[in-house]
Amino acid sequence: MKLALAADHGAFELKESIKKHLDEKGIEYEDFGCYAKESVDYPRFAYRAAKAVANGTHDFGIICCTTGLGVSMAANKVKGIRAAVCTNEMLAEMTRRHNNANVICMGQNVVSQELANKLVDIFVSTEFEGGRHQRRVDLLTAIENGEDI
Ligand code: RB5
Repeated sequence: MKLALAADHGAFELKESIKKHLDEKGIEYEDFGCYAKESVDYPRFAYRAAKAVANGTHDFGIICCTTGLGVSMAANKVKGIRAAVCTNEMLAEMTRRHNNANVICMGQNVVSQELANKLVDIFVSTEFEGGRHQRRVDLLTAIENGEDI
Protein backbone atom coordinates (compact mmCIF):
# COMPACT_ATOMS: atom_id res chain seq x y z
CA MET A 1 0.00 0.00 0.00
CA LYS A 2 1.25 3.46 -0.90
CA LEU A 3 -0.37 6.65 0.39
CA ALA A 4 -0.32 10.18 -1.03
CA LEU A 5 -0.04 12.86 1.66
CA ALA A 6 -0.55 16.58 1.32
CA ALA A 7 -1.41 19.58 3.45
CA ASP A 8 -1.32 23.35 3.33
CA HIS A 9 0.42 25.48 5.95
CA GLY A 10 -2.67 25.19 8.16
CA ALA A 11 -2.05 21.47 8.62
CA PHE A 12 1.69 21.20 8.11
CA GLU A 13 2.18 19.91 11.66
CA LEU A 14 -0.66 17.41 11.37
CA LYS A 15 0.86 16.03 8.17
CA GLU A 16 4.26 15.70 9.83
CA SER A 17 2.75 13.82 12.78
CA ILE A 18 0.85 11.49 10.42
CA LYS A 19 4.13 10.81 8.59
CA LYS A 20 5.75 9.84 11.88
CA HIS A 21 2.85 7.48 12.58
CA LEU A 22 3.13 5.90 9.13
CA ASP A 23 6.91 5.54 9.56
CA GLU A 24 6.32 3.70 12.83
CA LYS A 25 3.82 1.40 11.14
CA GLY A 26 6.06 0.85 8.10
CA ILE A 27 3.43 2.16 5.67
CA GLU A 28 4.82 3.64 2.47
CA TYR A 29 3.81 7.17 1.51
CA GLU A 30 4.79 10.11 -0.66
CA ASP A 31 4.65 13.65 0.67
CA PHE A 32 3.29 16.03 -1.97
CA GLY A 33 3.87 19.09 0.25
CA CYS A 34 3.73 21.65 1.50
CA TYR A 35 7.19 21.40 3.02
CA ALA A 36 7.23 24.41 5.37
CA LYS A 37 4.82 26.53 7.38
CA GLU A 38 4.78 29.49 4.97
CA SER A 39 1.36 30.38 3.66
CA VAL A 40 0.42 28.46 0.50
CA ASP A 41 -2.72 27.82 -1.51
CA TYR A 42 -4.36 24.55 -0.45
CA PRO A 43 -5.87 23.61 -3.86
CA ARG A 44 -2.38 23.09 -5.36
CA PHE A 45 -1.36 20.55 -2.74
CA ALA A 46 -4.70 18.79 -2.56
CA TYR A 47 -4.62 18.51 -6.36
CA ARG A 48 -1.16 16.91 -6.44
CA ALA A 49 -2.01 14.18 -3.95
CA ALA A 50 -5.48 13.60 -5.40
CA LYS A 51 -4.02 13.27 -8.91
CA ALA A 52 -1.61 10.60 -7.67
CA VAL A 53 -4.55 8.60 -6.29
CA ALA A 54 -6.64 9.13 -9.43
CA ASN A 55 -3.69 8.02 -11.61
CA GLY A 56 -3.42 4.81 -9.61
CA THR A 57 0.18 5.30 -8.48
CA HIS A 58 -1.05 5.65 -4.87
CA ASP A 59 -3.82 3.70 -3.14
CA PHE A 60 -5.26 6.35 -0.86
CA GLY A 61 -4.81 10.05 -0.17
CA ILE A 62 -4.52 11.77 3.19
CA ILE A 63 -5.03 15.48 2.65
CA CYS A 64 -5.27 18.09 5.39
CA CYS A 65 -5.82 21.78 5.91
CA THR A 66 -6.99 23.88 8.85
CA THR A 67 -10.54 22.56 8.60
CA GLY A 68 -10.30 19.71 6.08
CA LEU A 69 -12.97 21.48 4.03
CA GLY A 70 -11.01 23.35 1.37
CA VAL A 71 -8.79 20.39 0.51
CA SER A 72 -11.84 18.11 0.24
CA MET A 73 -13.44 20.50 -2.24
CA ALA A 74 -10.26 20.61 -4.30
CA ALA A 75 -9.71 16.84 -4.21
CA ASN A 76 -13.31 16.11 -5.19
CA LYS A 77 -12.85 18.11 -8.39
CA VAL A 78 -10.29 15.57 -9.61
CA LYS A 79 -11.95 12.86 -11.72
CA GLY A 80 -12.04 9.55 -9.93
CA ILE A 81 -11.65 11.02 -6.45
CA ARG A 82 -14.09 10.46 -3.62
CA ALA A 83 -12.77 12.55 -0.76
CA ALA A 84 -14.43 12.65 2.64
CA VAL A 85 -13.83 14.97 5.56
CA CYS A 86 -13.64 12.76 8.63
CA THR A 87 -13.87 13.94 12.21
CA ASN A 88 -14.55 10.69 14.05
CA GLU A 89 -14.01 6.95 13.81
CA MET A 90 -17.49 6.18 12.49
CA LEU A 91 -17.07 8.53 9.53
CA ALA A 92 -13.66 7.10 8.62
CA GLU A 93 -15.12 3.59 8.64
CA MET A 94 -18.41 4.32 6.90
CA THR A 95 -16.96 6.38 4.07
CA ARG A 96 -14.80 3.38 3.14
CA ARG A 97 -17.57 0.77 3.61
CA HIS A 98 -20.32 2.68 1.80
CA ASN A 99 -18.72 5.39 -0.37
CA ASN A 100 -15.47 3.65 -1.33
CA ALA A 101 -13.74 6.91 -0.48
CA ASN A 102 -10.18 7.05 -1.71
CA VAL A 103 -9.11 10.25 0.06
CA ILE A 104 -9.52 11.15 3.72
CA CYS A 105 -9.47 14.84 4.58
CA MET A 106 -8.88 16.16 8.08
CA GLY A 107 -8.51 19.54 9.74
CA GLN A 108 -5.63 20.36 12.04
CA ASN A 109 -7.94 22.62 14.07
CA VAL A 110 -10.58 19.91 14.21
CA VAL A 111 -8.90 16.61 15.11
CA SER A 112 -6.07 15.91 17.52
CA GLN A 113 -2.92 14.22 16.22
CA GLU A 114 -3.89 11.06 18.09
CA LEU A 115 -7.36 11.01 16.58
CA ALA A 116 -5.97 11.71 13.09
CA ASN A 117 -3.69 8.67 13.39
CA LYS A 118 -6.66 6.52 14.45
CA LEU A 119 -8.76 7.77 11.54
CA VAL A 120 -5.95 7.04 9.09
CA ASP A 121 -5.60 3.50 10.47
CA ILE A 122 -9.33 2.86 10.17
CA PHE A 123 -9.57 4.44 6.72
CA VAL A 124 -6.78 2.42 5.12
CA SER A 125 -7.80 -0.90 6.69
CA THR A 126 -11.56 -0.85 6.02
CA GLU A 127 -12.88 -2.59 2.92
CA PHE A 128 -15.59 -1.27 0.61
CA GLU A 129 -18.75 -3.37 0.99
CA GLY A 130 -19.77 -3.29 -2.66
CA GLY A 131 -23.24 -4.66 -3.44
CA ARG A 132 -25.88 -1.93 -3.37
CA HIS A 133 -23.17 0.56 -2.47
CA GLN A 134 -21.39 -0.16 -5.76
CA ARG A 135 -24.52 0.92 -7.62
CA ARG A 136 -24.52 4.20 -5.69
CA VAL A 137 -20.83 4.81 -6.23
CA ASP A 138 -21.40 4.13 -9.94
CA LEU A 139 -24.04 6.88 -9.85
CA LEU A 140 -21.46 9.26 -8.38
CA THR A 141 -19.23 8.43 -11.32
CA ALA A 142 -22.12 9.03 -13.70
CA ILE A 143 -22.64 12.51 -12.23
CA GLU A 144 -18.91 13.14 -12.57
CA ASN A 145 -19.15 12.15 -16.24
CA GLY A 146 -21.93 14.65 -16.87
CA GLU A 147 -24.62 12.03 -17.20
CA ASP A 148 -28.19 12.84 -16.31
CA ILE A 149 -29.22 10.47 -13.57
C1 RB5 B 1 -5.87 28.54 5.33
O1 RB5 B 1 -5.90 29.68 6.04
C2 RB5 B 1 -7.22 27.83 5.43
O2 RB5 B 1 -8.16 28.55 4.73
C3 RB5 B 1 -7.09 26.42 4.90
O3 RB5 B 1 -6.18 25.72 5.67
C4 RB5 B 1 -8.34 25.57 4.86
O4 RB5 B 1 -8.88 25.38 6.14
C5 RB5 B 1 -9.35 25.91 3.86
O5 RB5 B 1 -10.43 25.32 3.80
